[in-house]
Amino acid sequence: MLTSTAWKNLPLLREEIGRNGFAGLAGGIPAGRLRAMKAESLQACLQPAESVGGRRLIAFSSSTAELGASARAFLVSPEMTLFIGRLFGGEYQMTEDRSCITVYGAGDHLALHQDDPPEGCRATAIVYLRVIERADSQPSAGLHLHVWGRAEPHAGQVAHTKILAREGLVALGRGSEFWHERPPLAVGEEIVALTTCFHIVND
Ligand SMILES: [Fe+2]
Repeated sequence: MLTSTAWKNLPLLREEIGRNGFAGLAGGIPAGRLRAMKAESLQACLQPAESVGGRRLIAFSSSTAELGASARAFLVSPEMTLFIGRLFGGEYQMTEDRSCITVYGAGDHLALHQDDPPEGCRATAIVYLRVIERADSQPSAGLHLHVWGRAEPHAGQVAHTKILAREGLVALGRGSEFWHERPPLAVGEEIVALTTCFHIVND
């Protein structure tokens, strides 16, 4: 389910998450699994995203769909569960009602927030399955996940970490502790991702 690259990078990722809240893992998913998850996600029946029942209201715009069989099998696999546990410390399971396919098109965004509820999102993973960039210009701010610290940033405060979306990249972090945001995507850009949370077993 994961490549040897993922395991080799685990100490570095742990250190980076400790320092910055989030880190990006490239090359962590075997090509066949990535293809299968991408194919089923592109066929998923999308709905305009609704507020996901958190305690805070977050401004957003995106489309979502339920996880497909291949994505679910990946996220709940013993190896992924073990990897998340080693990375974040403890025993984790995917949180069903905080995990779905999310599609961002032109203008779609997710405003500054912490993942909610914290007990359901002790660890956050964003698995990028398809990323469309504009041919003639640099990736917009929206193709980056912007991350600040544990304190709510003031207006205009620059994010200390920006993780550029790439196909196959997994952004991993403490989303319920570190403030983060996805600015609007530009025309011609698109992201299809698995956006998932993990909770601690018996938390
Ligand atoms: Fe989030």
